[in-house]
Amino acid sequence: MHVRRKLVAGNWKMNGTRAALGEIAAIAAAARETAGVDVALCPPFTLIPLAAPRAGGVAIGGQDCHQSPSGAHTGNVSAAMLVEAGAKLVIVGHSERRADQHEEDSLVRAKAEAALAAGLQTIVCVGEVEEERIAGSHVDKVLYQLEHSLPELAREAELVVAYEPVWAIGTGRTATPADAAEMHAAIRAALVARFGDAGERIRILYGGSCNGANAAELFKVDQVDGGLVGGASLTAAQFVPIIEAAARS
Ligand code: 13P
Repeated sequence: MHVRRKLVAGNWKMNGTRAALGEIAAIAAAARETAGVDVALCPPFTLIPLAAPRAGGVAIGGQDCHQSPSGAHTGNVSAAMLVEAGAKLVIVGHSERRADQHEEDSLVRAKAEAALAAGLQTIVCVGEVEEERIAGSHVDKVLYQLEHSLPELAREAELVVAYEPVWAIGTGRTATPADAAEMHAAIRAALVARFGDAGERIRILYGGSCNGANAAELFKVDQVDGGLVGGASLTAAQFVPIIEAAARS
């Protein structure tokens, strides 16, 4: 039986200016009072160096990195640059980047490898679209993404998988506990088949309209090791109850 410490990570997406730094300080203050759960926040790149010194035990991260260490890649940021800015983690392969920037599994894998090599905890996102769930191919789709997006070496201490059904992101619709249980069990089995015992230690987060009202139920599901939270991570008022739910579960 492996006990994995819960992780609650906020993804601010393209939200947040200096005016939001007070929320980060308030989240950090509440997280300090909440034992037994790891907390992370991924604001826009521009806020990372400002947020990191205010974040206390909350790890600050990026929402993407380039797969190369440097070079002629206008508009991109490398993993080492994130580290220098104060980041401890990074999200790669988010479905919004897979859709908006046409990122494919092989690119996500290259980014994950670059991030891990730079010493960043790395959250690799996977998730099916609604048509795939309706067709019943959701598990196959996610396992395919996982197989091709994860790096070769698990480095289980630093690798995290986030299951985010695309139809649940920003829609107010959440996976049911049964939906989450089915997918998280399938992901766990795939991780163990690939990485052996290390696969037991990789945390699997749920993401998609997670909020203070549904977090407790989701975090009780077997193999759900925490959450990746978008909209409800933008304010301490909404994010702190999710952190507390993780600490209680
Ligand atoms: P919401 O929590 O806003 O649905 O976003 C989830 C997400 O995409 C986190 O990465």
